[in-house]
Amino acid sequence: MRGISTANARHTIIHGDCLKVMQSMPAASVDIAFADPPFNLNKKYASYHDQREFSDYLQWCRQWIHEMVRITKPSGSVFVHNIPKWLTFYAQFLHEVAEFRHWIAWDAPTAPMGKTLQPGHYGILYFAKERRKNKFYEIRYPHRRCRKCGYLLKDYGGKKAKLHPFGPLVSDVWTDIHRIRHNKHRDPHPCQLPVHLLERIILMSTDADDTVFDPFIGTGTTAVAAARLGRRIIGIDIDKKYVDITRNKLKQERSVSKIGGTWVSFFRGELITIADKDWEQLASYFQIPTDMKQIDFTKVRPMHTVTAKHSRTAPCQSHLFS
Ligand SMILES: C[S@@+](CC[C@H](N)C(=O)[O-])C[C@H]1O[C@@H](n2cnc3c(N)ncnc32)[C@H](O)[C@@H]1O
Repeated sequence: MRGISTANARHTIIHGDCLKVMQSMPAASVDIAFADPPFNLNKKYASYHDQREFSDYLQWCRQWIHEMVRITKPSGSVFVHNIPKWLTFYAQFLHEVAEFRHWIAWDAPTAPMGKTLQPGHYGILYFAKERRKNKFYEIRYPHRRCRKCGYLLKDYGGKKAKLHPFGPLVSDVWTDIHRIRHNKHRDPHPCQLPVHLLERIILMSTDADDTVFDPFIGTGTTAVAAARLGRRIIGIDIDKKYVDITRNKLKQERSVSKIGGTWVSFFRGELITIADKDWEQLASYFQIPTDMKQIDFTKVRPMHTVTAKHSRTAPCQSHLFS
């Protein structure tokens, strides 16, 4: 381990090899663990060489996956993001020490070019350390609407009056979260994830003040999401450059992703995820049509928003309500 830094009392970003660091951590010490490991695709990281021999890569993955589960609390969840090829192996390793909950297909809208059947989605394996004790909150996303006319994209026929005013429950196929498309929103890192992807996972599986763990923190996506949602983060990266970027980003973050006292996730001024259990508190902040049939063409919007300034990589993602 090459140095531990606590950006503030709540967050710890470690420069080191995640396997060694995890081996020094107590069992059942974090609430959830999320990993976005190197994909072994020869990506150009600042220092890590992303091309191990096939069996060597898998043996290493089995080790860190087992460590991640060991340090997670019995009520906790373990999430692993990768392309389907590697997830088929990871699932086996996870089945040895944890219990399957879901395979989330993240259809991060991109247009794969070059070959037929190129992966058009990423997978996120979701395992519970102990399924019976697993902390899990149902989550909702806003109704999908035509960008031009504002009408609901899905035809609910005569059932409109029964729709949830905010939007449907999220299924295991996520199509509403794009990869980061513009360089101005990126750090110098080849595979940075969008913050609101991590916010959705965190809202689904943790409470405020819980500890989120990420062994491959990169330039700090999970750290930023956890900080904005009032959670604690422990993150590790083998690359000093990425560790420094993450620590600097954390210094600028505040726990502001909320409406009133309720944690929510925003992307570019729009709510993207809420926990279903929170709707009762949130509803009073929204303009909801008195005749629910009007939801067909009336977007249910929050009443007053004030946009808070955030780090340069993720402008307008969190908001305060006056
Ligand atoms: C796919 S990237 C993670 C990106 C991150 N999710 C983000 O959004 O910024 C994988 C990261 O793992 C780091 N890494 C590779 N081997 C590692 C190891 N043994 N311990 C800790 N980090 C490692 C790389 O430096 C790289 O930043």
